[in-house]
Amino acid sequence: MEKIIIAAISKNNVIGKDGKIPWHSKEELQHFKKNTMSFPVIMGRKTWEAIAKPLQGRLNVVITHDQSFSTQFHEVIVFQSLQLAFSYFSTSIYTKVFIIGGGEIFSEVIDKVDSLILSEMNFETEGDTFFPEIDGTKWILDSNELYTEFTVHHYIRKQN
Ligand SMILES: NC(=O)c1ccc[n+]([C@@H]2O[C@H](COP(=O)([O-])OP(=O)(O)OC[C@H]3O[C@@H](n4cnc5c(N)ncnc54)[C@H](OP(=O)(O)O)[C@@H]3O)[C@@H](O)[C@H]2O)c1
Repeated sequence: MEKIIIAAISKNNVIGKDGKIPWHSKEELQHFKKNTMSFPVIMGRKTWEAIAKPLQGRLNVVITHDQSFSTQFHEVIVFQSLQLAFSYFSTSIYTKVFIIGGGEIFSEVIDKVDSLILSEMNFETEGDTFFPEIDGTKWILDSNELYTEFTVHHYIRKQN
C-alpha cells in the first residue's frame, strides 16, 4: 500500500490560516479530487473540523486522541493514532492511501510516506500553519506539472 501526502502550499510554505486554507482555487480542488477519488483520505481532527463533511466517494479517516470522538457520517472512520490507521489499511483492498493534512499530521508522517504530491501555488500568503521542510537528501523530484494557478511537484522517496 502506497502512502502519499497530497497538499497545496503557498510559495512561502503556508497551508492554513485560522483553521482554513487561505485561498480558493477550483482548479486545485479538481486536481485534488482527481487524484484522491476512491482512495482513503487520512486527516487530523482539525482538518476534519474545517471540512465538516465527508469528501464524497472516498473513505474519510480522522485521527484524534479523543476516544469519544464520532461523527454522524457512515463514511468516516476514526483512529487514535496514525499507526493504527496505517496498520488497518495495510491489510485492506486499497493500493493507495492519501494523507491530506493538516500541518501537524504532515509533520508526523513526512518521514513515513512513499511520495509527495505538492501543489505549489503561484503566490505567497499569510498563514499560521506550514508544510514541513522537504529534506533534499531523502526525496527525488520526479516530475513537475504546470497548471494556471499552481505547479504540481511529484516527489518520490530515495531508496537507500
Ligand atoms: N493546504 C492544504 O493542503 C491543507 C490541507 C489540510 C489542512 N490544511 C489546513 O491546515 C490547518 C489544520 O492543520 P493543524 O496542524 O492545525 O491540524 P491537523 O493536523 O489537521 O489536526 C491536528 C489534530 O489531529 C490529531 N492528531 C495529530 N496527530 C495525532 C496522533 N499522532 N495521534 C492522534 N491524534 C493526532 C489531534 O486531534 P485531537 O486534538 O482531537 O486529539 C490534533 O489536534 C487548517 O488551517 C487547514 O485548513 C491545509
